[in-house]
Amino acid sequence: MMGYEQILVFVEDSVGRVQLNRPKALNALNSKLMAEMVEAMRAFDANPEVRCILLHGDEKAFAAGADIREMADAGAIEMYTRDFISLWDAVYQTKKPIVAAVSGYALGGGCELAMVCDVIIASETAKFGQPEINLGVIPGAGGTQRLTRAVGKAVAMDMVLTGRMLTAGEAKAAGLVSRVVPPEAYLTEAQKVAQEIAAKSPVALQLAKEAILQGFETSLAGGVQMERRLFYMSFASEDQKEGMKAFMEKRRPDFKGR
Ligand code: CAA
Repeated sequence: MMGYEQILVFVEDSVGRVQLNRPKALNALNSKLMAEMVEAMRAFDANPEVRCILLHGDEKAFAAGADIREMADAGAIEMYTRDFISLWDAVYQTKKPIVAAVSGYALGGGCELAMVCDVIIASETAKFGQPEINLGVIPGAGGTQRLTRAVGKAVAMDMVLTGRMLTAGEAKAAGLVSRVVPPEAYLTEAQKVAQEIAAKSPVALQLAKEAILQGFETSLAGGVQMERRLFYMSFASEDQKEGMKAFMEKRRPDFKGR
């Protein structure tokens, strides 16, 4: 896991942590940073010691968007063939749960990156926005789609058409983030949430994440059917036996991920 230049990676207490590390550019997401992050996510996804992933930037910025300098002079065909936005899909395909800890700016591709994570913990200083309209473009990594599904049409239109940023409180009220904590606590809180998730059955976590994400792609009836099958499938795991046995024996379960 050595050799990254624009991210830092750590494994602590079954949590694989990726820190975006381009502070001078407010963690603007250039293709190198995105490629490194995807490589780190894939490595964590394949590493049985890691049961939950934590993604964060620094206090000033989670990420201020795709790197404007890198794309300012590009043509449409170059953008199309370079297809750097497929890297966001690669993050979305991570099977293990991803907790995003957001402090400061989460703008454009930064907001979109937070939205492909599974749980968002925000500092009171967090600012979420899709300011692409100010650059003469539109969001390109899910900002018109995942955002609308998360917060509804009115708030999404407000953000995407005016480019205005939501405060952490507004983001919480709109359903974009699940918890807002004081600036000094956001990272420890997110780490705590990631550790709490990491203590669950990895099999059940993967099934649960798959069920929720698949639900966005189907009808309600189809989603409920799919959920039921995944629920029944969880009974094939040793973790299900352990979880229910531990409950009856009034002790903490020891999940092995099988
Ligand atoms: N791309 C490249 N560089 C960026 C950047 C970005 N998205 N955001 C910030 N930076 C750089 C600045 O150019 C500056 O670099 P220099 O010191 O070398 O000049 C440095 O980071 C610090 O930024 P500012 O001086 O602007 O800091 P500020 O505190 O005055 O303002 C800000 C902060 C409001 C976030 C402002 O930087 C800003 O508006 N950034 C751009 C936000 C944006 O438009 N994001 C959307 C990008 S497009 C996109 O993401 C497309 C997509 O959907 C995939």
